[in-house]
Amino acid sequence: MFKSSKSRLSWADVTPKSEFLNRRQIMAGMGAAAGMAALPASAATFPASQYSTDLEPNSLEDITSYNNFYEFGTGKGDPARYGHLLNTDPWSVQIDGLVDKPGDYDLADILDNADLEERIYRFRCVEAWSMVIPWVGFELASLLNRVGVQSSAKYVAFETLVRPSEMPGQALGNLNYPYREGLRLDEAMNPLTILASGLYGEDLPNQNGAPLRLVVPWKYGFKSIKSIVRITLTDTQPETTWSNLNPREYGFYSNVNPNVDHPRWSQASERKIGGLIAKRQETLMFNGYEEQVADLYAGMDLSVDY
Ligand code: MTE
Repeated sequence: MFKSSKSRLSWADVTPKSEFLNRRQIMAGMGAAAGMAALPASAATFPASQYSTDLEPNSLEDITSYNNFYEFGTGKGDPARYGHLLNTDPWSVQIDGLVDKPGDYDLADILDNADLEERIYRFRCVEAWSMVIPWVGFELASLLNRVGVQSSAKYVAFETLVRPSEMPGQALGNLNYPYREGLRLDEAMNPLTILASGLYGEDLPNQNGAPLRLVVPWKYGFKSIKSIVRITLTDTQPETTWSNLNPREYGFYSNVNPNVDHPRWSQASERKIGGLIAKRQETLMFNGYEEQVADLYAGMDLSVDY
């Protein structure tokens, strides 16, 4: 089931899920070296990232049952219901365009060369709900540096797999496929931008974008494209699925911004998924990552470049 030697065994394999969180919190307070020594070697597989928030993650149940993944249908439960139809092994990612070493890269090879770590990120969907998710991933920049980005490259384009025989939403044609997303090169190179291959210490469930998905925590969730099969370096701004469909509602940047409303609803607050009572909270500029990313947009009018 696991794709690389680095992720073959995880802490979660030897620890009941209910204890997983508690133990990790204890670990965090123990001083990493002392804590690691007492645990199975596999626990060192995913060191905690300096970029993690200290917020309590949502439950695995929340994270895997309330999803957007139109390839499997438009309902929040469809990805969990139909995700198992997708075969993610073998998997390769085509990397092309303005790179020195274009090619079809085997996922196992990508992961074997990656510094996987756990990153607990805030997640904010454009539909004004949010979660906190403990990803396992690595910096997109490290992969891009490995393939050599040419000096003329300005953007990165991403595409999801097209396989309607295993993705019922694609068979219905509920969107124009492939699902496409894009980032400016400096956004892609920011250390907060990761490719995730797991969550809660295990491989990504299919509904969350197995086997490899983007996570850009200061942008609305639709920028975090799932089940990636192609990464292309370009010198022009790439087309993206949601802004092609409705450019007035979904811009290329799609930074989380409480001051710029969606034409049909406010973005000033969000509903945190989980628990019995729906909790509303204020949305933070750049989803709370202002310190790390505000410089990327210096001098831009974010109500124009939304
Ligand atoms: N990627 C693909 N390929 N297809 C999709 O429909 N939905 C996006 C994004 N990535 C989507 C996608 C949207 S709208 C959101 S909010 C997030 O995935 C949801 O990620 P999650 O289900 O892991 O929370």
